[in-house]
Amino acid sequence: MDAVLDYRTIQVTPQPSGFGAEITGLDLTHPLAPDVLADVKAAWARHGVVAFPDQPIGLEALEAFTLQMGGFGHDPYIKPMAGHPNVLELRREPDEKATNFGAGWHSDWSFQASPPAATLLHSKVIPPVGGDTLFVDAARAYEALSPTMQAMLAPLQAIHSAKQSYGTKGVFSQDTEKRTLQIIVSAEADTSLTHPLVRTHPVTGRKALFVSPVYTVGIADLTPEEAKAILGFLFAHLTQEALIYRHHWREQMLLMWDNRCTMHFAEGGYDGHLRLMHRTTVAGDAPV
Ligand code: SIN
Repeated sequence: MDAVLDYRTIQVTPQPSGFGAEITGLDLTHPLAPDVLADVKAAWARHGVVAFPDQPIGLEALEAFTLQMGGFGHDPYIKPMAGHPNVLELRREPDEKATNFGAGWHSDWSFQASPPAATLLHSKVIPPVGGDTLFVDAARAYEALSPTMQAMLAPLQAIHSAKQSYGTKGVFSQDTEKRTLQIIVSAEADTSLTHPLVRTHPVTGRKALFVSPVYTVGIADLTPEEAKAILGFLFAHLTQEALIYRHHWREQMLLMWDNRCTMHFAEGGYDGHLRLMHRTTVAGDAPV
């Protein structure tokens, strides 16, 4: 368990679920000093999902913090904010009926050769009901498997694609309801690539399952039926209640999660209310 004393410059309070933490004692309106940044990076690697409450930052400060964390990732298939090519505005108006963005378990952009290490989400307007974001600890999920299952999964390469979401026959191509978020459906999304099904975190050295129902569409060298059976088991295993941290938002809160060892799901349940967030990603490495 972390204690305040584990860090020299910030306070880190782990979530009671044993996964995720809240970080206080710092001001994100200005660039972080090197020792503070080092503590933040250490806490983020250790806890997977870190929340910074009461941070009334603007877009420039969000961009500056993203750069300090490692530089911008590439966000495809969604039109960025005007004048801020690396920021997405996740705005869902009270009268929108289309499914909310992120409403399926995924690790961000895992179909990229080098998916983002982190995603940062800053809350501007939070609905009075619903709108939580759920996270699973994919490292703990891996560690809970039997040694025999771990050995079976070790050599496997999972197939990732954006086609089920952004492809020419994906869910967004079927959108009939009005959506404020401008999604770009593309034939490029129909392509796929492989990543190790179990990846090793470059900082902690922990192994984690790296598959998700939204972006993992098969397993290399297995028949579709074999892959479906294994992935079905892994998706059920990953999303069991014991591995989930439910993040409840407050306004002006920044959340930063590690896409290398977590998967997340944006819960709806706020029809009739505005929800407005700003989002950036931090570039990552090719999974190994
Ligand atoms: C996402 O999947 O990046 C969006 C999460 C959210 O809006 O809570």
